[in-house]
Amino acid sequence: MQTFKVDVGHAIYPILIGPGLLGHRELFNSTLRAADVLIVTNTTVARLYLEKLQATLSGRRVADCMLPDGEQYKTLQTLGRVFDALVDAKLNRDATVLALGGGVVGDIAGFAAACYQRGVAYVQIPTTLLAQVDSSVGGKTGVNHPGGKNLIGAFYQPRAVIADTDTLATLPDRELHAGLAEVIKYGCIWDPLLFDWLELNIEKLTGRDDEALAYAIERSCAIKAAVVAEDERESNLRAILNFGHTFGHAIEAATRYDTYLHGEAVGLGMLIATNLSHRLGLIDGGTQERVRDLLARAGLPTEPPRIGTARALALMQMDKKVLAGTVRLVLLEKLGRAVVTGRYAQSALDATLNEYFA
Ligand code: NAD
Ligand code: GLY
Repeated sequence: MQTFKVDVGHAIYPILIGPGLLGHRELFNSTLRAADVLIVTNTTVARLYLEKLQATLSGRRVADCMLPDGEQYKTLQTLGRVFDALVDAKLNRDATVLALGGGVVGDIAGFAAACYQRGVAYVQIPTTLLAQVDSSVGGKTGVNHPGGKNLIGAFYQPRAVIADTDTLATLPDRELHAGLAEVIKYGCIWDPLLFDWLELNIEKLTGRDDEALAYAIERSCAIKAAVVAEDERESNLRAILNFGHTFGHAIEAATRYDTYLHGEAVGLGMLIATNLSHRLGLIDGGTQERVRDLLARAGLPTEPPRIGTARALALMQMDKKVLAGTVRLVLLEKLGRAVVTGRYAQSALDATLNEYFA
């Protein structure tokens, strides 16, 4: 088992990564002090892993809350179901919420924990690659609004992240590829050596080589922990983790959250952000090609949907990085270094949006 620490000052917690952790009773006993827990999961993950987790937790008072599966259900309405379950089980402030699932379950359950009785503890138990490399770490929680992605939420750190890498065995290929988009993101914005490693090993990852997957998860968590430790609330540095997201979120919202997986939309967004970085003269054409090739080899789509330039711009205006009406974008200065800026030629952005969305 590998352990990383996330330290945001007011909260310090471990990320535990390894095979077999869902059945590791001592690990749960030492991590989880609460006698009362609510497992929040969805219909797909419950069929695969709920019983196993319940068995590991036997001896406690365990309730569960079953959510419908899908990004389109990451809504205020679904959040209400978690509150109902917490109230129905008569849980108090000393209870702990366990988020068993991918990023959708993790974001909803975390937000419910942030709000219920003004805050109860929660633990992330991520079961998708995307959640293990990104969403379970760092305390961003929330739900979507029809007008934009993740518009309602809170920064609220979990007590621990327990990532059982065995759960990836049941993950469909398309979901695995979506998770790889976020791993490629870390290479682009932070770690050029990771990017080089990914170029050499991407087929091992798509082929589910255990050792390669473990390395990708561990390296991603180490990077995310470092960024979040420096800037928990996205005052500055953390915004680089949004590379590709401003465009990707527009794609997700324009397609009603039911056409592209989040990781796929982020991959498309990274392609567009890389194109703009090249157009602005920040990176050369070779770098743009390397990013595009790696995304394609990871099994990700590389043709954004033609949602229309005006629609894309309107959705981008709702991005949480907008300041004083200016859409701030994450651009690449070179492989491994990103900048967050509102200072770019609007004509260059228009040209890039026209190339992909018109
Ligand atoms: P997801 O939660 O929808 O899970 C993907 C699919 O895989 C679902 O159908 C799920 O039921 C299924 N699944 C989960 N685990 C499985 C397993 N082990 N075997 C088989 N199927 C399994 O999607 P995701 O990609 O995990 O997460 C995307 C969400 O995460 C988005 O809503 C995004 O906004 C959010 N996100 C949040 C952060 C953050 O910092 N909080 C960061 C990145 C993404
Ligand atoms: N995934 C973006 C962040 O956690 O900040």
